[in-house]
Amino acid sequence: MSAVPNAIRVRPGGALAGQTTVPGDKSLSHRALILGALADGTGTVRGFLPAGDTLATLDCIRALGIAVEERDGALTVAGRGLDGLSAPGAPLNCVHAGTAMRLLAGVLAGQPFASVLDGSDQLRRRPMRRVTDPLRAMGAQIDDANGRAPLRFAPARLRGITYTMPVASAQVKSCLLLAGLFADGPVTVIEPGPARDHTERMLRAMGADLDADDNRVTIRPGGVLRPLDMAIPADISSAAFVLVAALLSAGGPVTIGGVGVNPTRTGVLDILAAMDAPVDMIHPREEGGEPVADLAANRAALRGADVGGAVIVRAIDEFPALMVAATQAEGETIVRDAAEMRVKETDRLEVMTAELRKLGAAIEERPDGFRVIGPQALRGAAVDGHDDHRVAMALAMAGLVAQGETLVTDARCVNDSFPGFVETMQALGADMTWSRHD
Ligand code: S3P
Repeated sequence: MSAVPNAIRVRPGGALAGQTTVPGDKSLSHRALILGALADGTGTVRGFLPAGDTLATLDCIRALGIAVEERDGALTVAGRGLDGLSAPGAPLNCVHAGTAMRLLAGVLAGQPFASVLDGSDQLRRRPMRRVTDPLRAMGAQIDDANGRAPLRFAPARLRGITYTMPVASAQVKSCLLLAGLFADGPVTVIEPGPARDHTERMLRAMGADLDADDNRVTIRPGGVLRPLDMAIPADISSAAFVLVAALLSAGGPVTIGGVGVNPTRTGVLDILAAMDAPVDMIHPREEGGEPVADLAANRAALRGADVGGAVIVRAIDEFPALMVAATQAEGETIVRDAAEMRVKETDRLEVMTAELRKLGAAIEERPDGFRVIGPQALRGAAVDGHDDHRVAMALAMAGLVAQGETLVTDARCVNDSFPGFVETMQALGADMTWSRHD
């Protein structure tokens, strides 16, 4: 038996109700550090997510010579300007964080010093050519392991570029916009779908020369980035698990305060509405250039839905949770155009299908999605979280509606994005505890 709890034990039947919060947005937390490092002066970040992925970025930023301190519950990031980073003494370890690696690649490609980006075995398996190809087209000198990390950067001067992304990806878009800050001319990125636009919003708030229309973003180098005082809202991708639990369980309502509802992130709400499970947006407001609202959900009789097209990228991280919801919906749910799920921390289509089958679900894995006809009676079993935070949390949601006990192993990874996940669910009335499993 390992000494540290590494599995989540779940029993059904809890009537979920009450008010809660979830931790700060992961995408915004990465960006607040990376962009803050490039600002001309010290900014503050409230609501930073102190999770595995974002703490990896914090370590990388510090290794690049940036002082980050905690003061009165906020982080101060002592930006040193666009020319202020210093050469790291060792490879930068992004651990599991794809966002850290791909965004930092954009910063490091145009530096006058050499550097290396590396990560866990899991991250070393993920595709990096989607950023190294366009960066090389800008003049970057990158040595990689066949399109995978570690990525070794030699000093380089970057050229402007117009790049049409083959897949909608906020990480690729952000990487190229960051590289554009160091290029000798404008960088234009054309995206096939509306990937999250946090980088654009933050850069603009910092005074960057950036314009964006429907599917095209241009950044022009030059000038300085102003430091920001930023308040990071709660992460809708974490809130999604709580919402799905509330929709599937008796009790309610469950309200989650101060959630980021940037329209490029609210695909999950649109999909749930199409499944007859409306989530109420209460007291919509804007904080720090990002739309925010409280979200409230009640038990709902979910209906199957046909999901594909532009909504996919706006909900890409929420499909593990939505897959569980689909097993409980009346009728057929089909998800198409979601092949990107295969290149996340795990191949989430393969892994979620396999694990839900262990719980008794009949579910069809498709090359670009899945099909399930519900409602499916789930029975508790041991399932594997595969060291993928969103898989582990989704399987815990399934445990809430399965008969008997479910044990989600290899689940410590929930701390990569949602520290306090189990405790949050317990406080709402879920029968869920940490346990130890070899
Ligand atoms: C993210 C973008 C998405 C998402 C990831 C976070 C970001 O990845 O899945 O969790 O912060 O830019 P892709 O850009 O690969 O779609």
